[in-house]
Amino acid sequence: MKNLAMDLPGLNLKNPIMPASGCFGFGREYSEFYDLGELGAVIMKAATGSERFGNNTPRVAETSSGMLNAIGLQNPGVEKIIETEVPFLESFNVPIIANVAGSTVEEYIAVAETFNQTDKVNALELNISCPNVKEGGIQFGTDPDMAANVTRLVKQVSNLPVYVKLSPNVSDIVAMAKAVEVAGADGLSMINTLSGMQIHLPSKRPLLANKTGGLSGAAIKPVAIRMIYEVKQQVSIPIIGMGGITSAEDVLEFLLAGASAVAVGTANFHNPFICPELIEALPEVLYKYGFSSVEAAIGKGVPSYG
Ligand SMILES: Cc1cc2nc3c(=O)[nH]c(=O)nc-3n(C[C@H](O)[C@H](O)[C@H](O)COP(=O)(O)O)c2cc1C
Repeated sequence: MKNLAMDLPGLNLKNPIMPASGCFGFGREYSEFYDLGELGAVIMKAATGSERFGNNTPRVAETSSGMLNAIGLQNPGVEKIIETEVPFLESFNVPIIANVAGSTVEEYIAVAETFNQTDKVNALELNISCPNVKEGGIQFGTDPDMAANVTRLVKQVSNLPVYVKLSPNVSDIVAMAKAVEVAGADGLSMINTLSGMQIHLPSKRPLLANKTGGLSGAAIKPVAIRMIYEVKQQVSIPIIGMGGITSAEDVLEFLLAGASAVAVGTANFHNPFICPELIEALPEVLYKYGFSSVEAAIGKGVPSYG
């Protein structure tokens, strides 16, 4: 079955599988394992206005159920990314999504505007949800008015489709989704990591230098599925789903909950071949559960959606 293709705003996906932001860098290391052109798209590591070195180490920890990270948006800055990383990715036949971050609204706007000046990027993913940045990125992701405001302002300076990446660290995810939809978002990305913490027993101190970090991996999949399920019933823009995907069955579960494509994060660290393996395995899983295409499965696990 060949029918893995999916069209989303700005993105002609040959299949619905893409690596999630921050878990794939800019693809250089993974390109030594396989042809990045096999992927549906690539979502780049977050870009900020200028270079960021991120948080102090240790900034990654394995827990008994998932991984904690507090990288703190380490990246070379938007100009450098456009100069060196985008041309590298462009050499593969793969849509490129730029992940936009910042500490202030002005920084988000400046980064989006800079990406808009190149014709090499297909869409923006607005990371209003990074829980690990002291300067306050999180407020954008937890306050519907602030989320709507930054979305609206970015839309004003960019012709690129904007996917707003939602934080799960809220009590009402539907309110966040609706607010950014009204503000002009073309799609949603969900979910980012769940705020968590681990304490190192011998030192009786937090394991991460940042104290708290974002939990990712299989442990957060049920949270992601629940949130996508809730949002899909209330919002009409497409959703790129993510959070703990490790198998083609997981991908189908995200589609059934309402995602139109998926991103794979933490699993890339365990198995660098996970994305091509999922692309290979998905047709059989779709067929096994009675679907002739990716499109046919979207939202089919949501009774009220049909
Ligand atoms: C080490 C690490 C770095 C991340 N960096 C970013 C980032 O720069 N921008 C972003 O929007 N999300 C970032 N994320 C969140 C992932 O893109 C993804 O939303 C999250 O990890 C859930 O998916 P997963 O459980 O498959 O990893 C990062 C996650 C990890 C584990």
